[in-house]
Amino acid sequence: MGTINVAVVGLGNCAGALLEGLEYYSGSDRERSGLLFPVLGGYDLSDIEIVCAFDISQKKIDKTISQAVYQYPNNFNRILSYEIKNDGPVYRGPTLDGNPTHLQMFFEEAVEVLAVDVVDKLKYHQVDVVVNLLPTGSNEATAFYGMCALQAHCAFVNCIPSVFVQDEKIQHLFEDKGIPIVGDDIKSQVGSTIIHRAVLNMLADRGATIRKSSQINIGGNTDFANFVHRAQTKLVSKYKSLRQYLPDGVPNHIGHHYDVTKDGYKKTLFDIESTVFGGSKVKIFVQLESDDKPNSAGSIIDLIRIVKYEKDHNRGGCVFDACSYYNKSAPRQLKDFEAYERVKKQWGSN
Ligand SMILES: NC(=O)c1ccc[n+]([C@@H]2O[C@H](COP(=O)([O-])OP(=O)(O)OC[C@H]3O[C@@H](n4cnc5c(N)ncnc54)[C@H](O)[C@@H]3O)[C@@H](O)[C@H]2O)c1
Repeated sequence: MGTINVAVVGLGNCAGALLEGLEYYSGSDRERSGLLFPVLGGYDLSDIEIVCAFDISQKKIDKTISQAVYQYPNNFNRILSYEIKNDGPVYRGPTLDGNPTHLQMFFEEAVEVLAVDVVDKLKYHQVDVVVNLLPTGSNEATAFYGMCALQAHCAFVNCIPSVFVQDEKIQHLFEDKGIPIVGDDIKSQVGSTIIHRAVLNMLADRGATIRKSSQINIGGNTDFANFVHRAQTKLVSKYKSLRQYLPDGVPNHIGHHYDVTKDGYKKTLFDIESTVFGGSKVKIFVQLESDDKPNSAGSIIDLIRIVKYEKDHNRGGCVFDACSYYNKSAPRQLKDFEAYERVKKQWGSN
């Protein structure tokens, strides 16, 4: 099927796990555990190539991807015992709203370096797919890179909660040009969203009445440092991902806590109260601990292959079924089982 040339916007922790994960699965022993679809849309993982990246950090720009991805404040838990080799360039992108004051303490922005022409670079590297991994709340920057992808004829995977793919006007623009888009906000492979949905779904299936629901996320990386000040779009996205399972009026809390002792690991505490026969209470407490970044990469690798397959077949616009399975703020919400069946049927057997 050929290679899939990918550009990453925001060479942070998710990008680091994605790059190391691709290398992990590319070895001669062809490790396959941990993958939902070793082959998807006819593409193997080894077909994915990260050819360039965009960032704004002084320590990352004008370096190769492999030099830049290990720079502070990236602190993702390493998958490999060695450093990846990737000579693709990291370009200085425009900052827009990507670097709010509360994130400026973590790195020095390359203020004296002019931003490149993003569309030019995407064309030069013959990029097929742009993956957006900007800090949450980067709404202007997401719109900017999304429109650059459109101009350069690249598919766009929006992994962050900014409203982009949900916007019908955007869907039509991409549809008209035959370019696929997916988003918004990535659901991790086995993350807090899917666990919360699974518990709520089980309670409904067993005839329980859900009375209260709470989800508290705790982490210690820049993603969580950002949530202290700019979690609004993430909260909207997370509430949206649960709406289908929670009847109107049920008290529902979702929160984030930044804890420097947590580094790359995320902890989530779920506290769900329901009533069953005769009004008797069933309380469920669940604790998730996961390495959040590879967990997100496990979904990103599937979306990259799905949008490339759709692009190969000249189908543009929102890939609704893929979004329903892999994105929190999917424009169309389906039950997870149904979304999985649709993904498997459309792309899993190719
Ligand atoms: N499981 C998960 O980790 C998960 C799940 C869903 C969504 N996400 C989202 O993915 C995004 C990335 O997360 P992360 O942990 O890698 O964040 P991060 O803070 O580690 O990385 C963000 C990167 O973007 C760069 N950046 C900022 N402004 C930029 C601009 N204008 N142009 C180019 N680069 C710019 C920063 O320098 C940094 O390298 C976040 O929005 C996060 O909420 C993550």
